[in-house]
Amino acid sequence: MSTKPAKPHYAFNLTDEEGEKGRLRRIEALFDGHSTCMLSRGLPAEHLLEVGPGAGSLLHWAKEKGIRVSALDINPRFIHEFEFPGVRVHTGDMSTYDFGDETFDLIHARFVFMHVAKPEDALLNLKKALRPGGHVVLEDGDFQISRSLAGPEHLRQAADKVFEATRKGHKFMGKSSETGSVLPILGKACGFTVKDFSSWNMIGPGGGNLAAMMAESVSAVAESLLRAGIVSEDDLTHYQTFTEDPDCWALYYGYGQVLLEKAD
Ligand SMILES: C[S@@+](CC[C@H](N)C(=O)[O-])C[C@H]1O[C@@H](n2cnc3c(N)ncnc32)[C@H](O)[C@@H]1O
Repeated sequence: MSTKPAKPHYAFNLTDEEGEKGRLRRIEALFDGHSTCMLSRGLPAEHLLEVGPGAGSLLHWAKEKGIRVSALDINPRFIHEFEFPGVRVHTGDMSTYDFGDETFDLIHARFVFMHVAKPEDALLNLKKALRPGGHVVLEDGDFQISRSLAGPEHLRQAADKVFEATRKGHKFMGKSSETGSVLPILGKACGFTVKDFSSWNMIGPGGGNLAAMMAESVSAVAESLLRAGIVSEDDLTHYQTFTEDPDCWALYYGYGQVLLEKAD
């Protein structure tokens, strides 16, 4: 009997509102500059679909550019109408959601594809709502390369165990740990032209925004990491210390972004 969940599972669905919003704001502070740079390559655009908008900073960016904006999220809990007037919000799973007659000429998803077991299904479904000549920008993490780089040995060991448990957790859920590095391959497999690809190693010291965001991510999924059987409570405590100590450095993950074009 399979132990994998049948429904789409998003690991941060049950996190408390305030904590999750803070974590998403850190992601925005770390990546919005990169995202807007790549999104600008898909302009001019009349209608943007933001998939998995999280706390929604890129909805504001697009609206300020005069672009019509829609959003799709499995749990759009931070996209309230009073904060985002004029944004049409769809609730659903990107792998199956039917947009009806609504079409887009730019679709963006950051740190969303890594959360699904079949990214091809998701991209092909979104492609149906993309106009010919339209663009998709995908951005994601590669946790296959995560490793500690500096710090006291016992803290480094704990961090490396957390990274290993994270990969094991992805595997258990049937999800890839390396989505960020294979985005161009995914795009090609779904019939897109790959216009551009960039990637970075996300390296940072304890106490920085990256380490703090990773500490919050790990504490939100601590129970499932413990269940994976690789880390102990002590390891998780050491990991938190690792992420606060400015002498502790890690390559937390790789980050890739791709610009895809749908043929006319
Ligand atoms: C890690 S957050 C990233 C938020 C935002 N894109 C950012 O980078 O700041 C993932 C977002 O994707 C949404 N999500 C997860 N799985 C999804 C799915 N299958 N379909 C649609 N949205 C999904 C979550 O609810 C959440 O808003």
